[in-house]
Amino acid sequence: GFFRWTWRLTYLSAIGGTLYIGYGIYQGRTPAEQYDPDPSKKTLVVLGTGWGSVSLLKKLDTENYNVIVVSPRNYFLFTPLLPSCTTGTIEHRSIMEPIRSFLRHKKAAVKYYEAECTKIDYENKMIYINDESEIKGSTSATEVPFDMLVVGVGAENATFGIPGVREHGCFLKEVPDAQKIRKRIMDCVETATFKDQSPEEVKRLLHMVVVGGGPTGVEFAGELQDFFENDLRKWIPEISNNFHVTLVEALPNVLPMFSKNLIDYTEQTFKEETIDIRTKTMVKRVEEKFIEAEYTDASGKKVLEKIPYGLLVWATGNALKPVVKDLMSQIPAQKDSRRGLAVNEYLVVKGTENIWAVGDCAIANYAPTAQVASQEGSFLARLFNQMAKTDSIETELAELSTTQEKAPSKDLRDEAFGKIKDLQKRLRRVKSIGPFEYSHQGSLAYIGSEKAVADISWLTGNLATGGQLTYFFWRSAYLSMCFSTRNRILVIMDWLKTQVFGRDVSRE
Ligand code: FAD
Ligand code: NAI
Repeated sequence: GFFRWTWRLTYLSAIGGTLYIGYGIYQGRTPAEQYDPDPSKKTLVVLGTGWGSVSLLKKLDTENYNVIVVSPRNYFLFTPLLPSCTTGTIEHRSIMEPIRSFLRHKKAAVKYYEAECTKIDYENKMIYINDESEIKGSTSATEVPFDMLVVGVGAENATFGIPGVREHGCFLKEVPDAQKIRKRIMDCVETATFKDQSPEEVKRLLHMVVVGGGPTGVEFAGELQDFFENDLRKWIPEISNNFHVTLVEALPNVLPMFSKNLIDYTEQTFKEETIDIRTKTMVKRVEEKFIEAEYTDASGKKVLEKIPYGLLVWATGNALKPVVKDLMSQIPAQKDSRRGLAVNEYLVVKGTENIWAVGDCAIANYAPTAQVASQEGSFLARLFNQMAKTDSIETELAELSTTQEKAPSKDLRDEAFGKIKDLQKRLRRVKSIGPFEYSHQGSLAYIGSEKAVADISWLTGNLATGGQLTYFFWRSAYLSMCFSTRNRILVIMDWLKTQVFGRDVSRE
């Protein structure tokens, strides 16, 4: 009896799951008719299609505003899995969601311009935009007026003005960066096995240097070592003795935002994976074939060392985008802000009334993470939805008071009075939206050889854990956070493909 029931339940859940996924796919492919919002409504311009802006657009009732989205990237990118694209564990298209299909599912139409905002004119409520793509039409630079503006343009890669970084290093922030790295790894490997290469040159070409021991650098180093262990050394055994990954970090340890035991666990795991960690080592200069780094030796003397490399990945955190810097220079209240747009507890850019900022370009005392950006975006959607409701209730209230004044009988006046009371109550409720509060769910990072570290917030406190079980948790957590059913299925298929066939070692 028990087994028969278990079997039936499994069978039913399989059917239910399949129907659910099938419905998700069907819905994704068949959007309903869209209508244009009322042109007399306010124009809300949203800059960017990253974590902050997209989570705002996801929850925004677009029928309340004339929404215009401006971004040079016509897709959303699930950044947590980007390090896996550098080695082909996951294909980049699996973690991209076209902004067009997403916007097409909104109730009221949203305009999208594939362009970069080059300037925000705060005084005149205008933004200037530029089509930076290869194909140009009759206009490629124009302006867009706004009533309300949300800045979610993210951040740039920090280089701290260190010479040579932009020319010779690879960043890891966008899809083209991951593609460039993937190609370069294979180029280094193939060049190292070229005829008559000197032994020093082979060593240099196969030395993969990662600068920055934050989560981006650590995750990339782990992925790269996996690629070597599982695939490269199998197909190209002659590189086995020389392929080497080094992680360079200026501070005394990597992953400063994680608990001490997880830092130790990561460093220990890297040692086992034979990834070299060079802490307290600050890169000062980058040349085409080597970096110059400063460290303090045992006697306390500062030493400059040349480290030859074949591939250099630069992951030293965030810097301000020029368009954000320019906006800050127009607003006196932003004078003392250094790292981004200072915002108040409702994410309004300080010194303005109609500009909000979300994500990495905003400074609200939280780390620049996807978690923060997406919560900020959802908060703004709630705020804007409530603001629209407030506007419509206030209009209704004004109309009702006129009706009440002009009502010919006491009964009608009382009826209008009753409605006014109800509306005022609703208005108070709608207006009572509290300030933004961030709820930290935890930090997760992949560290290679099917191990991950996690600092998770529980009701009762914190849980710091690392290892293979955490890796399965890491996988399921990221899978559940993927943007769409399509993304989820593609990521699962990529993982399976890698498991069965290994990673592709073609250069393109
Ligand atoms: P972004 O997501 O960077 O989006 C910015 C958007 O603005 C883009 O669409 C861009 O095209 C657009 N834009 C840029 N300039 C302009 C302009 N001038 N005009 C108009 N649009 C513009 N965080 C986590 O919490 N967990 C993780 O596991 C994690 N992993 C990461 C892995 C990597 C490799 C990286 C690089 C970051 C990771 N992060 C992670 C951090 C996270 O991705 C960022 O904090 C998050 O993307 C910030 O969101 P955002 O909306 O501010 O900016
Ligand atoms: P980061 O700012 O977290 O780390 C950069 C590191 O580079 C710092 O530790 C810094 O000391 C070091 N550094 C700077 N200059 C250096 C130099 N000249 N030489 C040597 N080392 C130098 O940057 P990262 O990793 O790019 O992350 C950016 C943001 O994205 C962070 O807020 C991070 O939390 C988030 N993120 C989160 C992930 C996750 O949760 N799994 C994954 C990736 C990013």
